[in-house]
Amino acid sequence: EARAPGGPGADVVSDGPRPPLFSWEFATDPYPAYAWLREHAPVHRTRLPSGVEAWLVTRYEDARVALADQRLSKNAAHHDEPDHAKGRTGIPGERKAELMTHLLNIDPPDHTRLRRLVSKAFTPRRVARFAPRVQELTDELIDGFAGKGAADLIHEFAFPLPIYAICDLLGVPREDQDDFRDWAGMMIRHGGGPRGGVARSVKKMRRYLAELIHRKRAELPEVPAPDEDLLSGLIRASDHGEHLTENEAAAMAFILLFAGFETTVNLIGNGTLALLRHPAERERLAAAIAAGDDSLLDTGIEELLRYDGPVEVATWRFATEPLTVGGQSIAAGDPVLVVLAAADRDPERFRDPDVLDLTRRDNQHLGYGHGIHYCVGAPLARLEGRTAVETLLRRLPDLRLAVNPDDLRWRGGLIMRGLRTLPVEFAP
Ligand code: HEM
Repeated sequence: EARAPGGPGADVVSDGPRPPLFSWEFATDPYPAYAWLREHAPVHRTRLPSGVEAWLVTRYEDARVALADQRLSKNAAHHDEPDHAKGRTGIPGERKAELMTHLLNIDPPDHTRLRRLVSKAFTPRRVARFAPRVQELTDELIDGFAGKGAADLIHEFAFPLPIYAICDLLGVPREDQDDFRDWAGMMIRHGGGPRGGVARSVKKMRRYLAELIHRKRAELPEVPAPDEDLLSGLIRASDHGEHLTENEAAAMAFILLFAGFETTVNLIGNGTLALLRHPAERERLAAAIAAGDDSLLDTGIEELLRYDGPVEVATWRFATEPLTVGGQSIAAGDPVLVVLAAADRDPERFRDPDVLDLTRRDNQHLGYGHGIHYCVGAPLARLEGRTAVETLLRRLPDLRLAVNPDDLRWRGGLIMRGLRTLPVEFAP
Protein backbone atom coordinates (compact mmCIF):
# COMPACT_ATOMS: atom_id res chain seq x y z
CA GLU A 1 0.00 0.00 0.00
CA ALA A 2 1.39 3.40 -0.96
CA ARG A 3 1.91 5.92 1.80
CA ALA A 4 -0.40 8.86 1.29
CA PRO A 5 1.50 12.11 0.84
CA GLY A 6 1.13 14.98 3.28
CA GLY A 7 -1.15 15.13 6.26
CA PRO A 8 -0.33 14.95 9.92
CA GLY A 9 1.87 12.02 10.72
CA ALA A 10 3.05 11.50 7.16
CA ASP A 11 6.66 11.54 8.30
CA VAL A 12 6.21 9.90 11.67
CA VAL A 13 9.50 8.62 13.04
CA SER A 14 10.25 7.17 16.41
CA ASP A 15 14.05 7.06 16.28
CA GLY A 16 16.27 9.75 17.70
CA PRO A 17 15.53 11.99 20.67
CA ARG A 18 11.97 12.52 21.83
CA PRO A 19 10.26 15.34 19.94
CA PRO A 20 9.14 18.00 22.43
CA LEU A 21 5.67 17.68 23.95
CA PHE A 22 3.31 20.67 24.21
CA SER A 23 5.37 22.85 21.84
CA TRP A 24 4.01 24.72 18.84
CA GLU A 25 5.18 21.89 16.52
CA PHE A 26 3.45 19.41 18.80
CA ALA A 27 0.14 21.28 18.54
CA THR A 28 0.47 21.20 14.74
CA ASP A 29 1.44 17.53 14.49
CA PRO A 30 1.63 15.54 17.74
CA TYR A 31 1.98 12.18 15.99
CA PRO A 32 5.82 11.96 15.82
CA ALA A 33 6.05 12.60 19.58
CA TYR A 34 3.37 9.99 20.24
CA ALA A 35 5.18 7.47 18.01
CA TRP A 36 8.32 8.05 20.06
CA LEU A 37 6.47 7.58 23.35
CA ARG A 38 4.73 4.39 22.21
CA GLU A 39 8.10 2.97 21.28
CA HIS A 40 10.33 4.21 24.11
CA ALA A 41 8.14 5.22 27.06
CA PRO A 42 4.61 3.90 26.50
CA VAL A 43 3.39 4.90 29.98
CA HIS A 44 5.19 8.15 30.55
CA ARG A 45 5.11 10.55 33.49
CA THR A 46 5.30 14.15 32.35
CA ARG A 47 4.76 17.67 33.63
CA LEU A 48 1.90 19.36 31.81
CA PRO A 49 1.98 23.04 30.87
CA SER A 50 -0.26 23.67 33.89
CA GLY A 51 2.49 22.29 36.14
CA VAL A 52 0.58 19.15 37.10
CA GLU A 53 2.35 15.81 36.67
CA ALA A 54 0.40 13.07 34.94
CA TRP A 55 0.91 9.71 33.26
CA LEU A 56 0.40 9.55 29.50
CA VAL A 57 -0.79 6.15 28.25
CA THR A 58 0.01 5.82 24.53
CA ARG A 59 -0.25 2.17 23.41
CA TYR A 60 -3.58 0.85 22.12
CA GLU A 61 -3.84 -2.19 24.40
CA ASP A 62 -2.85 -0.24 27.51
CA ALA A 63 -5.24 2.56 26.57
CA ARG A 64 -8.16 0.18 26.16
CA VAL A 65 -7.43 -1.54 29.45
CA ALA A 66 -7.01 1.80 31.28
CA LEU A 67 -10.27 3.22 29.88
CA ALA A 68 -12.15 0.20 31.26
CA ASP A 69 -10.31 0.04 34.62
CA GLN A 70 -12.69 1.22 37.34
CA ARG A 71 -9.81 1.76 39.74
CA LEU A 72 -9.19 4.84 37.61
CA SER A 73 -11.79 7.28 38.90
CA LYS A 74 -13.23 10.33 37.18
CA ASN A 75 -13.65 12.05 40.52
CA ALA A 76 -10.93 14.63 41.18
CA ALA A 77 -11.32 14.12 44.91
CA HIS A 78 -8.96 11.19 44.37
CA HIS A 79 -6.23 13.44 42.99
CA ASP A 80 -3.39 14.17 45.37
CA GLU A 81 -3.50 17.81 44.21
CA PRO A 82 -7.22 18.26 43.56
CA ASP A 83 -6.99 21.99 42.98
CA HIS A 84 -4.93 21.47 39.86
CA ALA A 85 -7.42 19.18 38.23
CA LYS A 86 -10.16 21.75 38.02
CA GLY A 87 -11.65 22.30 34.63
CA ARG A 88 -10.30 18.94 33.62
CA THR A 89 -12.74 18.16 30.85
CA GLY A 90 -11.59 21.41 29.28
CA ILE A 91 -15.09 22.82 29.69
CA PRO A 92 -14.83 26.40 30.87
CA GLY A 93 -16.91 27.11 33.93
CA GLU A 94 -17.41 23.51 34.92
CA ARG A 95 -16.04 24.32 38.34
CA LYS A 96 -19.44 25.73 39.09
CA ALA A 97 -20.80 23.16 41.48
CA GLU A 98 -24.25 23.04 39.89
CA LEU A 99 -22.84 21.79 36.62
CA MET A 100 -20.16 19.51 38.04
CA THR A 101 -22.22 16.41 38.60
CA HIS A 102 -22.14 15.30 35.00
CA LEU A 103 -21.26 11.96 33.45
CA LEU A 104 -17.60 12.69 32.76
CA ASN A 105 -16.86 13.59 36.39
CA ILE A 106 -18.51 10.77 38.27
CA ASP A 107 -18.12 7.05 38.96
CA PRO A 108 -20.62 4.25 39.58
CA PRO A 109 -23.11 4.02 41.16
CA ASP A 110 -24.04 7.66 40.39
CA HIS A 111 -22.70 7.34 36.87
CA THR A 112 -24.73 4.18 36.26
CA ARG A 113 -27.95 5.89 37.33
CA LEU A 114 -27.41 9.07 35.26
CA ARG A 115 -26.18 7.13 32.25
CA ARG A 116 -29.24 4.87 32.33
CA LEU A 117 -31.51 7.89 32.43
CA VAL A 118 -29.80 9.68 29.55
CA SER A 119 -29.78 6.48 27.48
CA LYS A 120 -33.55 6.25 27.85
CA ALA A 121 -33.95 9.71 26.36
CA PHE A 122 -31.00 9.97 23.94
CA THR A 123 -31.91 6.92 21.89
CA PRO A 124 -30.65 5.99 18.41
CA ARG A 125 -34.29 6.34 17.33
CA ARG A 126 -34.48 9.95 18.49
CA VAL A 127 -31.24 10.64 16.61
CA ALA A 128 -32.40 8.88 13.43
CA ARG A 129 -35.60 10.95 13.45
CA PHE A 130 -33.40 14.00 13.48
CA ALA A 131 -31.56 13.18 10.22
CA PRO A 132 -33.69 15.38 7.91
CA ARG A 133 -33.12 18.38 10.20
CA VAL A 134 -29.33 17.85 10.17
CA GLN A 135 -29.43 17.72 6.36
CA GLU A 136 -31.49 20.91 6.24
CA LEU A 137 -29.11 22.74 8.61
CA THR A 138 -26.12 21.54 6.59
CA ASP A 139 -27.63 22.81 3.33
CA GLU A 140 -28.62 26.16 4.85
CA LEU A 141 -25.10 26.73 6.12
CA ILE A 142 -23.54 25.81 2.76
CA ASP A 143 -26.09 28.08 1.00
CA GLY A 144 -24.67 30.88 3.15
CA PHE A 145 -21.24 30.74 1.51
CA ALA A 146 -21.61 28.66 -1.68
CA GLY A 147 -21.90 31.78 -3.85
CA LYS A 148 -18.73 33.39 -2.51
CA GLY A 149 -16.14 30.96 -3.84
CA ALA A 150 -14.30 31.01 -0.52
CA ALA A 151 -15.07 30.35 3.13
CA ASP A 152 -13.60 29.59 6.50
CA LEU A 153 -15.08 26.16 7.02
CA ILE A 154 -14.61 26.29 10.77
CA HIS A 155 -16.48 29.52 11.43
CA GLU A 156 -19.04 29.31 8.67
CA PHE A 157 -19.78 25.60 8.79
CA ALA A 158 -18.17 23.27 11.34
CA PHE A 159 -18.83 25.59 14.29
CA PRO A 160 -22.51 26.51 13.76
CA LEU A 161 -23.71 23.09 12.59
CA PRO A 162 -23.33 21.18 15.88
CA ILE A 163 -24.49 24.06 18.05
CA TYR A 164 -27.74 24.48 16.12
CA ALA A 165 -28.13 20.69 15.90
CA ILE A 166 -27.80 20.14 19.65
CA CYS A 167 -30.00 23.13 20.46
CA ASP A 168 -32.70 21.72 18.17
CA LEU A 169 -32.36 18.24 19.59
CA LEU A 170 -32.52 19.48 23.19
CA GLY A 171 -35.48 21.68 22.41
CA VAL A 172 -33.95 25.16 22.75
CA PRO A 173 -36.39 27.43 20.84
CA ARG A 174 -35.00 28.67 17.51
CA GLU A 175 -35.21 32.33 18.57
CA ASP A 176 -32.80 31.64 21.46
CA GLN A 177 -30.25 29.60 19.51
CA ASP A 178 -28.14 32.53 18.38
CA ASP A 179 -27.54 33.34 22.05
CA PHE A 180 -26.19 29.81 22.46
CA ARG A 181 -24.03 30.30 19.40
CA ASP A 182 -22.54 33.43 20.97
CA TRP A 183 -21.98 31.83 24.38
CA ALA A 184 -20.42 28.75 22.84
CA GLY A 185 -18.24 30.93 20.60
CA MET A 186 -16.96 32.78 23.63
CA MET A 187 -16.11 29.52 25.34
CA ILE A 188 -14.37 27.90 22.40
CA ARG A 189 -12.33 31.04 21.66
CA HIS A 190 -11.32 31.75 25.22
CA GLY A 191 -11.62 28.33 26.80
CA GLY A 192 -9.45 27.51 29.79
CA GLY A 193 -10.83 29.54 32.63
CA PRO A 194 -14.03 31.19 33.67
CA ARG A 195 -12.73 34.72 33.33
CA GLY A 196 -14.47 37.82 32.00
CA GLY A 197 -16.59 37.02 28.97
CA VAL A 198 -16.29 33.29 29.45
CA ALA A 199 -17.55 33.48 33.03
CA ARG A 200 -20.44 35.67 31.92
CA SER A 201 -21.31 33.29 29.09
CA VAL A 202 -21.30 30.25 31.37
CA LYS A 203 -23.46 32.09 33.86
CA LYS A 204 -25.96 33.14 31.21
CA MET A 205 -26.11 29.65 29.79
CA ARG A 206 -26.56 28.13 33.23
CA ARG A 207 -29.37 30.50 34.08
CA TYR A 208 -31.02 29.96 30.71
CA LEU A 209 -30.88 26.16 30.99
CA ALA A 210 -32.27 26.21 34.54
CA GLU A 211 -35.23 28.33 33.39
CA LEU A 212 -35.83 26.24 30.29
CA ILE A 213 -35.83 23.01 32.30
CA HIS A 214 -38.16 24.51 34.85
CA ARG A 215 -40.57 25.60 32.11
CA LYS A 216 -40.42 22.27 30.27
CA ARG A 217 -41.07 20.37 33.47
CA ALA A 218 -44.10 22.55 34.25
CA GLU A 219 -45.47 22.09 30.71
CA LEU A 220 -44.65 18.40 30.27
CA PRO A 221 -47.70 16.66 28.73
CA GLU A 222 -48.72 13.35 30.23
CA VAL A 223 -48.38 11.52 26.94
CA PRO A 224 -45.16 12.34 25.03
CA ALA A 225 -45.57 13.87 21.57
CA PRO A 226 -43.96 11.75 18.84
CA ASP A 227 -41.38 14.49 18.22
CA GLU A 228 -40.73 15.29 21.88
CA ASP A 229 -37.41 17.07 22.39
CA LEU A 230 -34.51 15.54 24.28
CA LEU A 231 -34.71 17.85 27.30
CA SER A 232 -38.35 16.90 27.85
CA GLY A 233 -37.32 13.28 27.34
CA LEU A 234 -34.64 13.70 30.02
CA ILE A 235 -37.12 15.23 32.44
CA ARG A 236 -39.59 12.44 31.69
CA ALA A 237 -37.10 9.57 31.94
CA SER A 238 -37.33 7.54 35.08
CA ASP A 239 -35.43 4.60 36.42
CA HIS A 240 -37.20 2.56 39.09
CA GLY A 241 -39.35 5.61 39.74
CA GLU A 242 -36.36 7.95 40.06
CA HIS A 243 -36.05 11.05 37.91
CA LEU A 244 -33.23 13.52 37.31
CA THR A 245 -33.31 16.46 39.70
CA GLU A 246 -33.46 19.89 38.02
CA ASN A 247 -29.78 20.38 38.81
CA GLU A 248 -28.89 17.01 37.32
CA ALA A 249 -30.94 17.78 34.23
CA ALA A 250 -29.13 21.14 33.83
CA ALA A 251 -25.73 19.47 34.26
CA MET A 252 -26.75 16.83 31.73
CA ALA A 253 -27.87 19.44 29.19
CA PHE A 254 -24.60 21.29 29.77
CA ILE A 255 -22.41 18.21 29.22
CA LEU A 256 -24.40 17.19 26.16
CA LEU A 257 -23.87 20.65 24.71
CA PHE A 258 -20.20 20.72 25.50
CA ALA A 259 -19.25 17.13 24.85
CA GLY A 260 -21.17 17.33 21.60
CA PHE A 261 -20.04 20.70 20.39
CA GLU A 262 -16.28 21.19 20.00
CA THR A 263 -15.85 17.46 19.27
CA THR A 264 -18.14 17.69 16.25
CA VAL A 265 -16.54 20.95 15.11
CA ASN A 266 -13.24 19.07 15.13
CA LEU A 267 -14.59 15.98 13.39
CA ILE A 268 -15.79 18.15 10.50
CA GLY A 269 -12.64 20.32 10.53
CA ASN A 270 -9.97 17.62 10.97
CA GLY A 271 -11.87 15.21 8.72
CA THR A 272 -12.29 17.67 5.85
CA LEU A 273 -8.64 18.68 6.15
CA ALA A 274 -7.50 15.04 6.01
CA LEU A 275 -9.56 14.54 2.83
CA LEU A 276 -8.19 17.71 1.24
CA ARG A 277 -4.65 16.53 1.98
CA HIS A 278 -5.27 13.08 0.51
CA PRO A 279 -6.69 13.78 -2.95
CA ALA A 280 -6.84 10.14 -4.06
CA GLU A 281 -8.90 9.12 -1.01
CA ARG A 282 -11.13 12.13 -1.40
CA GLU A 283 -11.74 11.35 -5.11
CA ARG A 284 -12.59 7.81 -4.21
CA LEU A 285 -15.13 8.98 -1.63
CA ALA A 286 -16.63 11.61 -3.95
CA ALA A 287 -17.02 8.97 -6.69
CA ALA A 288 -18.72 6.54 -4.29
CA ILE A 289 -21.11 9.27 -3.11
CA ALA A 290 -21.92 10.24 -6.71
CA ALA A 291 -22.67 6.56 -7.43
CA GLY A 292 -25.04 6.42 -4.44
CA ASP A 293 -22.80 3.99 -2.55
CA ASP A 294 -22.78 4.89 1.15
CA SER A 295 -20.55 2.09 2.40
CA LEU A 296 -17.35 4.08 1.87
CA LEU A 297 -18.88 6.95 3.83
CA ASP A 298 -19.48 4.58 6.76
CA THR A 299 -15.94 3.19 6.91
CA GLY A 300 -14.55 6.59 5.88
CA ILE A 301 -15.99 8.54 8.82
CA GLU A 302 -14.59 5.92 11.22
CA GLU A 303 -11.19 6.21 9.56
CA LEU A 304 -11.24 10.02 9.82
CA LEU A 305 -11.94 9.60 13.55
CA ARG A 306 -9.03 7.19 13.91
CA TYR A 307 -6.60 9.12 11.73
CA ASP A 308 -6.95 12.59 13.26
CA GLY A 309 -9.82 12.45 15.73
CA PRO A 310 -11.40 15.34 17.67
CA VAL A 311 -10.45 14.09 21.14
CA GLU A 312 -6.68 13.82 21.44
CA VAL A 313 -6.61 12.82 25.10
CA ALA A 314 -9.49 11.29 27.07
CA THR A 315 -10.66 13.33 30.06
CA TRP A 316 -8.80 13.01 33.39
CA ARG A 317 -8.71 9.84 35.42
CA PHE A 318 -7.18 9.34 38.90
CA ALA A 319 -5.78 6.17 40.47
CA THR A 320 -7.86 5.28 43.55
CA GLU A 321 -5.24 2.72 44.66
CA PRO A 322 -1.74 1.69 43.57
CA LEU A 323 -1.95 -0.15 40.23
CA THR A 324 0.05 -0.95 37.13
CA VAL A 325 -0.70 0.13 33.57
CA GLY A 326 1.38 -1.48 30.83
CA GLY A 327 3.82 -2.76 33.47
CA GLN A 328 4.33 0.70 34.96
CA SER A 329 3.51 1.22 38.65
CA ILE A 330 1.20 4.13 39.31
CA ALA A 331 0.64 5.49 42.82
CA ALA A 332 -2.76 6.17 44.37
CA GLY A 333 -3.77 9.77 43.64
CA ASP A 334 -1.81 10.02 40.37
CA PRO A 335 -3.61 11.42 37.32
CA VAL A 336 -3.69 9.17 34.25
CA LEU A 337 -4.29 10.58 30.77
CA VAL A 338 -5.17 8.11 28.05
CA VAL A 339 -3.90 9.48 24.74
CA LEU A 340 -6.51 8.35 22.22
CA ALA A 341 -4.61 9.94 19.33
CA ALA A 342 -1.50 7.88 20.16
CA ALA A 343 -3.41 4.63 20.70
CA ASP A 344 -5.23 5.01 17.39
CA ARG A 345 -1.91 5.15 15.50
CA ASP A 346 -0.43 2.10 17.24
CA PRO A 347 1.16 -0.18 14.61
CA GLU A 348 0.60 -3.16 16.94
CA ARG A 349 -3.12 -2.67 16.40
CA PHE A 350 -3.52 -0.92 13.02
CA ARG A 351 -1.80 -1.88 9.80
CA ASP A 352 0.03 1.13 8.31
CA PRO A 353 -1.43 3.35 11.03
CA ASP A 354 -0.15 6.60 9.51
CA VAL A 355 -1.91 5.94 6.21
CA LEU A 356 -5.43 7.32 5.69
CA ASP A 357 -7.41 4.41 4.25
CA LEU A 358 -11.12 5.11 3.98
CA THR A 359 -11.84 1.43 3.29
CA ARG A 360 -10.13 0.30 6.50
CA ARG A 361 -11.96 -2.63 8.09
CA ASP A 362 -11.55 -3.94 11.62
CA ASN A 363 -11.19 -0.34 12.73
CA GLN A 364 -11.88 -0.54 16.48
CA HIS A 365 -10.51 2.95 17.13
CA LEU A 366 -10.81 4.61 20.53
CA GLY A 367 -11.98 7.97 19.18
CA TYR A 368 -15.24 7.70 21.13
CA GLY A 369 -13.55 6.21 24.19
CA HIS A 370 -14.24 2.78 25.63
CA GLY A 371 -15.94 1.28 28.69
CA ILE A 372 -18.63 2.91 30.80
CA HIS A 373 -17.82 6.46 29.62
CA TYR A 374 -18.03 5.52 25.92
CA CYS A 375 -19.49 8.48 24.04
CA VAL A 376 -23.24 8.80 24.58
CA GLY A 377 -23.48 11.02 21.52
CA ALA A 378 -21.73 8.73 19.03
CA PRO A 379 -24.88 8.14 16.91
CA LEU A 380 -25.47 11.91 16.65
CA ALA A 381 -21.77 12.58 15.93
CA ARG A 382 -21.80 9.98 13.15
CA LEU A 383 -24.96 11.47 11.67
CA GLU A 384 -23.52 15.00 11.70
CA GLY A 385 -20.08 13.93 10.43
CA ARG A 386 -21.55 11.88 7.60
CA THR A 387 -24.03 14.54 6.54
CA ALA A 388 -21.41 17.30 6.65
CA VAL A 389 -18.76 15.41 4.67
CA GLU A 390 -21.19 13.94 2.15
CA THR A 391 -22.87 17.29 1.46
CA LEU A 392 -19.61 19.24 1.22
CA LEU A 393 -18.12 16.81 -1.30
CA ARG A 394 -21.34 16.64 -3.31
CA ARG A 395 -22.09 20.37 -3.41
CA LEU A 396 -18.57 21.74 -3.68
CA PRO A 397 -16.80 19.18 -5.87
CA ASP A 398 -13.68 21.28 -6.42
CA LEU A 399 -13.25 22.22 -2.75
CA ARG A 400 -9.58 22.98 -2.03
CA LEU A 401 -7.42 24.47 0.71
CA ALA A 402 -6.85 28.21 0.30
CA VAL A 403 -3.62 28.23 2.34
CA ASN A 404 -0.50 26.16 2.63
CA PRO A 405 -1.26 23.34 5.09
CA ASP A 406 1.81 24.34 7.11
CA ASP A 407 0.21 27.71 7.79
CA LEU A 408 -2.89 26.24 9.41
CA ARG A 409 -3.16 27.03 13.10
CA TRP A 410 -4.34 24.49 15.65
CA ARG A 411 -5.93 25.27 18.99
CA GLY A 412 -3.63 24.33 21.83
CA GLY A 413 -5.04 22.55 24.86
CA LEU A 414 -4.68 19.10 26.22
CA ILE A 415 -7.95 17.33 25.52
CA MET A 416 -9.20 18.43 22.11
CA ARG A 417 -7.44 18.57 18.77
CA GLY A 418 -8.87 21.03 16.27
CA LEU A 419 -8.17 23.84 13.83
CA ARG A 420 -8.69 27.52 14.52
CA THR A 421 -9.62 28.20 10.91
CA LEU A 422 -9.91 26.19 7.70
CA PRO A 423 -9.79 28.56 4.71
CA VAL A 424 -11.05 26.92 1.52
CA GLU A 425 -11.82 27.90 -2.08
CA PHE A 426 -14.18 26.46 -4.69
CA ALA A 427 -15.99 27.49 -7.85
CA PRO A 428 -18.94 29.65 -6.74
C1 HEM B 1 -17.95 10.91 26.11
C2 HEM B 1 -15.71 11.53 21.87
C3 HEM B 1 -19.62 13.75 20.06
C4 HEM B 1 -21.73 13.42 24.38
C5 HEM B 1 -17.01 10.88 25.11
C6 HEM B 1 -15.70 10.29 25.22
C7 HEM B 1 -15.08 10.48 24.04
C8 HEM B 1 -15.97 11.18 23.16
C9 HEM B 1 -13.65 10.07 23.68
C10 HEM B 1 -15.13 9.57 26.46
C11 HEM B 1 -14.25 10.46 27.26
C12 HEM B 1 -13.56 9.76 28.41
O1 HEM B 1 -13.73 8.55 28.63
O2 HEM B 1 -12.83 10.45 29.12
C13 HEM B 1 -16.58 12.18 21.01
C14 HEM B 1 -16.29 12.48 19.64
C15 HEM B 1 -17.39 13.13 19.15
C16 HEM B 1 -18.36 13.20 20.19
C17 HEM B 1 -15.00 12.16 18.93
C18 HEM B 1 -17.65 13.72 17.77
C19 HEM B 1 -17.11 13.30 16.69
C20 HEM B 1 -20.56 13.80 21.05
C21 HEM B 1 -21.89 14.31 20.91
C22 HEM B 1 -22.48 14.25 22.14
C23 HEM B 1 -21.51 13.65 23.05
C24 HEM B 1 -22.49 14.85 19.61
C25 HEM B 1 -23.85 14.65 22.59
C26 HEM B 1 -24.63 15.48 22.03
C27 HEM B 1 -20.86 12.74 25.21
C28 HEM B 1 -21.13 12.51 26.62
C29 HEM B 1 -20.05 11.79 27.12
C30 HEM B 1 -19.13 11.59 26.01
C31 HEM B 1 -22.35 12.98 27.39
C32 HEM B 1 -19.84 11.30 28.55
C33 HEM B 1 -20.30 9.88 28.64
C34 HEM B 1 -20.04 9.26 30.02
O3 HEM B 1 -19.18 9.74 30.75
O4 HEM B 1 -20.75 8.28 30.32
N1 HEM B 1 -17.17 11.41 23.84
N2 HEM B 1 -17.83 12.62 21.31
N3 HEM B 1 -20.37 13.39 22.34
N4 HEM B 1 -19.67 12.18 24.87
FE1 HEM B 1 -18.81 12.29 23.06
